Amino acid sequence: MRILIFGATGMLGKALMSQWKSDSADGDEISGLGSAHADIRVAAQVESAIHKSKPDWIVLLAAYTDVDGCELNPNLASAVNTQGAVNVAKAAAGMGSRLLFVSTDYVFDGKKNSPYDTSDRRNPINVYGRTKAEAEEQILSVLQDCCIVRTSWLFGPGGKCFPDTILKLASTRAEIDVVNDQRGSPTCTSDLADAIAKLCRSDARGIIHATNRGECSWYEFASEIIRQGGLKTIVHPTTSDRFVRPAERPKYSVLSNASLSGYGIEMRPWQETVPDYLRERAASPSG
Ligand SMILES: NC(=O)c1ccc[n+]([C@@H]2O[C@H](COP(=O)([O-])OP(=O)(O)OC[C@H]3O[C@@H](n4cnc5c(N)ncnc54)[C@H](OP(=O)(O)O)[C@@H]3O)[C@@H](O)[C@H]2O)c1
Repeated sequence: MRILIFGATGMLGKALMSQWKSDSADGDEISGLGSAHADIRVAAQVESAIHKSKPDWIVLLAAYTDVDGCELNPNLASAVNTQGAVNVAKAAAGMGSRLLFVSTDYVFDGKKNSPYDTSDRRNPINVYGRTKAEAEEQILSVLQDCCIVRTSWLFGPGGKCFPDTILKLASTRAEIDVVNDQRGSPTCTSDLADAIAKLCRSDARGIIHATNRGECSWYEFASEIIRQGGLKTIVHPTTSDRFVRPAERPKYSVLSNASLSGYGIEMRPWQETVPDYLRERAASPSG
C-alpha cells in the first residue's frame, strides 16, 4: 500500500511514521507531511501533494490541537480543523484514495456517566470540539466510506503532553494540584499508531473509537506518572473551577472501544503504557 500522512510532524504523526516504517517488511510505502510541506487550509497544496503521492490511504492527523488556542482563535480553528479536513477529503475523493481521519472525544459534551458509543450524538462544548465535529459531518458527506477514528488524552514522546508537563513540574516542586473532576482514557501514541495501521490494513470504514483501556481523572493520571517515575512529589486533587481556562472541558469523555474490538483490535490498559513512555522520554528528553 501507499500511505500519505498529513500531520506527520506532530506527536501522533511521529509515532505513526516510525511504527509503519518499522513493520513495513510487506512493502508499504509511507510518506509524511507537516504544515511546511502542505498547508491543509490551501486546497491547491493539498491536491498537489495527493496527486504526487497517489496514495491508497490518506491518514489525516493535521489539526490545530491547542484547545485553549482554538477558543481564542475560532477562525483559525475552523480554517484548519474543519475546512482543512474537507479540503483533504475532497482531494481524496478526486484521487480515489481511502481516508482515515483522526478525531476526538471532545465532540461529546461529557454529560454521560458511561462510555460514549460511536452512535452517541455529537454535542461539543468548546471551539476545538465543534470544529472537529463539523469536520466529521462534512467529511462523511464528501466520502461515505471514510474511516473516522476518535481518540482521547494522547501522550507520547516528542510532544507537548500531560505526563511531560507533570514530570517537568515534579522536577521543581514538592507538591502539585491536579484536577480530579474530569475523567477520560489516556492513550499512548505508539499504541494508537499500531491500531491505525491495522485499521487501514483491515479496510476499515465508519466511526471507530480507539483509546487505551481503562479510565481515570487527570489527578489519577498524574499520581500514576509520579508513582511509576519513582518521584517524591505529592499530588493533591483539586477541581476545575480552581483552574479556569479559556475552553471548557467535558467532565467525562471515556469512549467505548466496542467498535475497535469489532476489527479484532484490543488496546492494553493505559497504566501498562507508562513505563514505555518514561523509558522513551528518558532516552530523548528534549523530544
Ligand atoms: N493531543 C490529544 O490529546 C488529542 C486527543 C484526541 C484527538 N487528537 C487528534 O489527534 C490528531 C493528532 O494530534 P497530535 O496531538 O499528534 O497533534 P500535534 O502534535 O499538535 O500536531 C499537529 C500536526 O498538525 C499539523 N498542522 C497544523 N496545522 C496545519 C496546517 N494548517 N496544515 C497542515 N498541517 C498542519 C502540524 O504540522 P507542523 O508541526 O509541521 O506545523 C502537526 O504535524 C489531531 O487530529 C487531534 O485533533 C489529539
